[in-house]
Amino acid sequence: MSTTRPRFDPTRVPHLLGSFAPVSEQVDIADLEVTGELPAALDGLYLRNGPNPRFTPIGSYLYPIDGDGMLHGVRLSAGRARYRNRFVRTPAMEAEERAGRALWGGLESMIMPDAGEVGPELAATFKDLPDINVVRHAGRLLALAESACPFRVDAALETVGREDFGGALPAGITAHPKIDPVTGEMVVFCYGLQPPYLTWSVIAPDGTVSRGPTPVEGVDEPMMIHDMALTARYAVLVLAPAFFDLDAAMAGGSFLDWRPERGTRVVLLPRDGGPPRWAADEAFWMWHTVNAYDENQAEDAPVVLDYVQWSRLTVGGSASDAAQPLSGGLARARIDPASGSMARTLLDDSRVEFPRVDDRRLGRRHRHAALATDTGRADLLPGEYDAIRWYDTETGAARVWTAGNLSVGEPVYAPEPGRESDESGYWMTFATDRTDQSSWFLVIPAQDPSSGPVARVRIPVRVPLGLHGCWLPTEP
Ligand SMILES: [Fe+2]
Repeated sequence: MSTTRPRFDPTRVPHLLGSFAPVSEQVDIADLEVTGELPAALDGLYLRNGPNPRFTPIGSYLYPIDGDGMLHGVRLSAGRARYRNRFVRTPAMEAEERAGRALWGGLESMIMPDAGEVGPELAATFKDLPDINVVRHAGRLLALAESACPFRVDAALETVGREDFGGALPAGITAHPKIDPVTGEMVVFCYGLQPPYLTWSVIAPDGTVSRGPTPVEGVDEPMMIHDMALTARYAVLVLAPAFFDLDAAMAGGSFLDWRPERGTRVVLLPRDGGPPRWAADEAFWMWHTVNAYDENQAEDAPVVLDYVQWSRLTVGGSASDAAQPLSGGLARARIDPASGSMARTLLDDSRVEFPRVDDRRLGRRHRHAALATDTGRADLLPGEYDAIRWYDTETGAARVWTAGNLSVGEPVYAPEPGRESDESGYWMTFATDRTDQSSWFLVIPAQDPSSGPVARVRIPVRVPLGLHGCWLPTEP
């Protein structure tokens, strides 16, 4: 069989270099040096996940999916900060540690070890990749993979094991479940390479699976869906034409096929179990939702979905892509379940990603969204950002804080305890200085975000650029 993929050289993969380069040391360091002042009211743990291969990758490396997971945590209490990082330990990682080297290739390489190398249980299996997100639900802290079983970790970030929700969700869940702040339910979906290609489920506040997995009718091919949204009434899935093509992957090509002629569909899944409602439009790609909500209380009210819109799917990406990146703009879709139509508008054409709102607004009307953005500097890689943008959906105004030499990540909102406002709390993110690779944890006031951080916590070790995180207030 001929191969079209060039020979893999990990020393030339941009997402294994510079601010993205993985780290191997696990540390726990208290009383970190703070420039400025940490708000004393903030008591809790900021956690972030991200790809961090334990050993030098073999075969291929596809950002942002490949790589082992590493959790980075900053615990804030009484104006002091403590940092801890831990690998998410999967059976495959432990097998690689026994071997002292990578045994599984990157996803695109389809390299899997045989029974002689790893034993019969792990032989010819895909590697677990719980490296994308981290959430807390029903007292469980979950490191999340792309449509697979998450791994549960304890409060010290030590791995407990694979979580299949009491056996109810053996195929796993999305890396982007949505927790309803009103009902406490966690709504999830899962796509797969075999029928049923797409299912959705509801996990009750006590952690039991209360609905599903329910197949989504009308999906008859394997397709990639990265994120979802929630309203009080619906789970919202955006089905862009990104189809898995295993035959192409086996022949050395890409395992994802972009078929724009198929358009992009949105399905509204009534959370009460009613029939799905569909709408369709021309093709676009979406990695991440901002938030969604029902426009009003009426039956069949339209759904408003804010999201970051891309013209097509790309994964991986080389340094040269940064010069002519596809634009990810902040967009709004208004989906009318009665007519099956949707109307899309671009709210803000700045290049953005990693959108977040105050999580207490999820599924309900939000006002402010924070997003990572960039100033167009030539030294940034695809997926690297050097500014944060706050968009006000009521006024259409945007505010920006430019981080200079710092590369920043996803902004996460930490409310001020006891306050409902989404403007009295703080936005948090890790940042890495591109000039000296020093890493920082930043706390930015929501009231005046363009003034920049009120506190910069020096992390004494390098924190690679990563993906998604959360703020976990200390539970009383
Ligand atoms: Fe994501």
